[in-house]
Amino acid sequence: MSILSGKNILLGISGGIAAYKTATLVRSFIKAGANVQVVMTPASKDFVTPLTLSTLSKNPVHSTFTNDQDDNAMWNNHVELGLWADYLVVAPATANTLSKMANGTCDNLLLATYLSAKCKVYFAPAMDLDMYIHPSSVHSFETLKSYGNVMIPATSGELASGLIGQGRMAEPDDIVSFIEKDIINGLPLKNKKVLITAGPTHEAIDPVRFIGNHSSGKMGFEIAKEAANLGAEVILISGPTHQKVAHDLITVIPVISAQDMYDAAHLYFNNSDIAILSAAVADYKPKNVASQKIKKKSSTLTLDLEKTKDILASLGAIKTKQFLVGFALETNNELEHAKLKLKKKNLDLIVLNSLNDKGAGFKSDTNKVTLINKDEVAKVYELKSKTEVAKDLFNTIINTIHA
Ligand code: CTP
Repeated sequence: MSILSGKNILLGISGGIAAYKTATLVRSFIKAGANVQVVMTPASKDFVTPLTLSTLSKNPVHSTFTNDQDDNAMWNNHVELGLWADYLVVAPATANTLSKMANGTCDNLLLATYLSAKCKVYFAPAMDLDMYIHPSSVHSFETLKSYGNVMIPATSGELASGLIGQGRMAEPDDIVSFIEKDIINGLPLKNKKVLITAGPTHEAIDPVRFIGNHSSGKMGFEIAKEAANLGAEVILISGPTHQKVAHDLITVIPVISAQDMYDAAHLYFNNSDIAILSAAVADYKPKNVASQKIKKKSSTLTLDLEKTKDILASLGAIKTKQFLVGFALETNNELEHAKLKLKKKNLDLIVLNSLNDKGAGFKSDTNKVTLINKDEVAKVYELKSKTEVAKDLFNTIINTIHA
C-alpha cells in the first residue's frame, strides 16, 4: 500500500509543454490511492484540457477565482483548497510560476492557493536547459527550498526546443515515487522497530475447549497501523482475532496461548525500540490440559488453574533501551491501580481504560483512555475512535522519546 493512500493531493499545473504529462501524473496519484484535485494556471490550459484532468481526477478542476461556467458565479475558495490538501504538488513548475511563488506574487488561483496552503509543497521544474541554470531560476529554487518546499529536480534529455540538457520535468511515476520516499524518510518512526501484542489468548482445557476473553484485538491492530503509518517496522503478535491488516511494514505473528505470546514477545523484544502490550492475556490457565475431550460425567467440574507468565512484567525486568507501554483495565480506584502497575512492571507509559466509562473497552470501536507517564503525570482523553486513540498514544510516545 502506498503511503499516499487516502491522502489529499492538490496538483498545481503551470503553463509548460510538460503539462501534457499531468494526465498520467493524476492517474499515478489515483493508482496510489490518493484523492486528487487540480488547480491550473490560465496558461496551462493551452497544453492540457481541464476536461481531461477532471475526468481522470473525478473532481472539478479549478483555474479561476470564480466559477464562470455557473450563472451564480461561485467563488473558488483557495483557502479551502489549500487546507484540504495534505500535499501540494506543482508540476510542471515553470520559471514564471516558480519566480512568482518565491516572491509572493498572487495573480492567479494556483498562486493564491500556494500562499494559503499549510501543507508540504513539492515543485517539479520544467524549462529549457539555459533557463534551468539561469541565476534567477536557481534563486527561485533556493528561495522556495528555504521556505521548506521540496524540489523534484528536472531530468536531462531532449527538450521541447530540440536542445539536449537538464530541464525536463521528472517523469510522472518518478514524481510519485520521489514524493513517497520523501514522505517515508520524514516519518517520525522511520528506522524504529515497534513490538505490539494484541487480542486475547486462548488457554486450552482439552483439545476442543479453552478459557478465553472477549478482546477483539481492535485497539492493538489500530496501534499497529498507526505505528506503520508513522514509518515503523511493526511486529504484531496477535492472539486469535478476526482483525485483518495488510501493510508492508507490519508482520503479524499469530499465537494462541499466553505462553506462545510470551515466547514470541521475548524473541522480538531485544530488537525493538518501542513495545506496546495491549493484549488481554489470560491471567490463569488450566494446570493440566486433558489430552482427550473431557466427558460430562459428573454434575460439577473443577478446573485447577495456575498463573500465566506476566509478559509485560517480564519485559519490564529486562528492558534496556526499549520504551515500554502497558495497558490497565480497571473497575475501581483506577488511577491508583494503574500507577501501581506502571511502577511494578517498570513501564514508561501506561494506558488506563476504565470499565466505568461508556464506549471504552473490548468490543467497541471507541475507547476512552488516560495516559500516565513515568512521572505519574496523567492526561485524560475524551471518548474517541480507537484509530484516534492510537494517534494520541504515538504523539505522547514520540514527544516523550524526543523530550
Ligand atoms: N499482561 C501481560 N501478560 C499477562 C497479563 C497481563 O503482558 N500474563 C499485560 C497486558 O497486556 C496489559 C497489562 O499487562 O498491558 C495489564 O494487564 P491487566 O490484566 O490489567 O493487569 P494485571 O497485571 O494482570 O493485574 P490484574 O489482572 O490483577 O489487574
